[in-house]
Amino acid sequence: MGQIVVLDRNMVNLIAAGEVIERPASVVKELMENSIDAGATSITVAVEDGGRKLISVTDNGCGMDAEDLARAFEPHTTSKVRTSEDLRGISTLGFRGEALASIASVSQVRAVSRMRDELVGNSIENDCGEKSPMCPCSTDYGTTIQVRDLFYKLPARRKFLKTANTEMTHITEQLTRTALARGNLDLTLVHNGRELYRLPGEKGIGPRIAELFSTEISENLIETESREKGLHIFALLGRPDIARTSNKLQYVFLNGRFIRDKFISHAIKEAYRGSIEPNRFPVAFLFIEMPYEDYDVNVHPTKIEVRFYNSNLVHSQILACVREKLLATNLDTAGKLPIVSAAGVREPDGRIADAMAEFFKRHRPGQTQRRLEFSPAKSTERGPQHIRGFSGDLPGALPERKFLQIHDSFIVAEADDGFLIIDQHALHERMMYEDLRRRISAGKLESQKLLIPESFQLTDAQQDAIDNNTELIDRLGIELTPFGPRTQAIQAFPTLLAKAELVDFVRGLLDLLAERDATLDADGLLDEVINMAACKAAIKAGQKLSDNEIEQLLADKEIIEHSSHCPHGRPTAIRFTLSDLEKQFKRT
Ligand SMILES: Nc1ncnc2c1ncn2[C@@H]1O[C@H](COP(=O)(O)OP(=O)(O)O)[C@@H](O)[C@H]1O
Ligand SMILES: [Mg+2]
Repeated sequence: MGQIVVLDRNMVNLIAAGEVIERPASVVKELMENSIDAGATSITVAVEDGGRKLISVTDNGCGMDAEDLARAFEPHTTSKVRTSEDLRGISTLGFRGEALASIASVSQVRAVSRMRDELVGNSIENDCGEKSPMCPCSTDYGTTIQVRDLFYKLPARRKFLKTANTEMTHITEQLTRTALARGNLDLTLVHNGRELYRLPGEKGIGPRIAELFSTEISENLIETESREKGLHIFALLGRPDIARTSNKLQYVFLNGRFIRDKFISHAIKEAYRGSIEPNRFPVAFLFIEMPYEDYDVNVHPTKIEVRFYNSNLVHSQILACVREKLLATNLDTAGKLPIVSAAGVREPDGRIADAMAEFFKRHRPGQTQRRLEFSPAKSTERGPQHIRGFSGDLPGALPERKFLQIHDSFIVAEADDGFLIIDQHALHERMMYEDLRRRISAGKLESQKLLIPESFQLTDAQQDAIDNNTELIDRLGIELTPFGPRTQAIQAFPTLLAKAELVDFVRGLLDLLAERDATLDADGLLDEVINMAACKAAIKAGQKLSDNEIEQLLADKEIIEHSSHCPHGRPTAIRFTLSDLEKQFKRT
């Protein structure tokens, strides 16, 4: 006898529910999507016990008549698609026709709905697939769906539900996605009778982000927009200093749908490359609009993934849009001034900032006292002569910019709206990196023959690295010749790296080539080499600089790309604004 049977309807729903309904947050997601598809402008989500006891979603959408309300809970019933043609351009959030049937197969559901132009509404109950008769009732227009005791007949699934707090975190995340995707929707979330969020639709995306995350996030976003090749991108990009340790604060929306897409994540990562440390993730909110026909959403039951027909275009457009904006923006890290207590005692870690604040307070243009007055202890030979324009016998003609090198490591420089503290090594490293990259991509680095070759001993691994990377070593402008057993001589060295210690540099290079990460392609390896070269050849901390060198460094900072961060993504400069200082000195 045959073994195959046709599964009954409830089994079909249960299996579908296994894919679509994982936890209370999935119910919230599906119900909110239905409300949005029904044209609602206001949605209230009320839950009890993290949604384990009750999930109730009320909207002011188009509602359903009695016939539709009864049918909505049948499997594969939908008002959103009819023919295979419709699947080619889905403009609604739902279309699979299985959410309500799935939810009703694993919980007790009560649905109440009234269409706007009808006088009475209807209600229906459904207990794990067992339907009660439809009842007319008086109700506001729109729809309310209440879901009680999720998975109560499925102990194996219920067991996987976490604490109310954890389930609430997931529900809040769903609410957050919807709130961002539909900025003009009124949204309310209530837990155990307590209102957690009330987000009015008319306030705009900025206040919404502040409410959902923090003002630290909302105040550190850079806005950009592009409209090209059928793609409209609106992006709010987090400044590098608010980057996170995970990509949780990267939200991507496609035509109002929250999606996850590895091409898009990659484009964002690439765009920020060099602006943040490699192990950090930028905060980014990306809103993409494109024709519905240009992608397929029928890929995953939870509709969180899509398949772009031209993913390269999406990748390149996002990369270009984000990168261009970042390059055009001053990304210097904002300085945080120390907290001043009521008694006026400053926090110990604020000492440098305090000294700087004092420095600039004294030397603001227009003040009568212009000569620097260093206390005897600080008045070393590296003091005042490093400050241009403060001789005191230059009256009235103030210089364009003022600067000061401190501890032979940092440069304090005046800026239009305050001052910068620059890490001289980090900034110079970035400059070397950009310069090396530009020159190497144009060809071989210019090099100089050494009058007396420098010889050094090397290990087998280092010898192998020479043999396996002759082309790369040549491209760097380094000439090595064997000079006896396990010994090589450096015959020529790149001019640009003249400041580096020759043997140390070559050994470092060979070690890097010997230990190269096998997954790196040629470009990745070259990038690592340039990184290393930039670091070794850059000005060090503790190195005294002449006025000319400082001037050059400051002038170059204005013109090179990514000057706000070193090649490893660490900041090169911290910016303090005058208005912050004025607040600290109680001038305002
Ligand atoms: N809140 C609502 N307001 C109006 N109609 C709704 C609502 N929720 C569900 N419906 C109707 O019920 C149908 C079935 O919903 P669902 O099972 O989620 O499938 P889908 O959303 O994929 O169509 C929808 O197509 C819609 O017509
Ligand atoms: Mg739906």
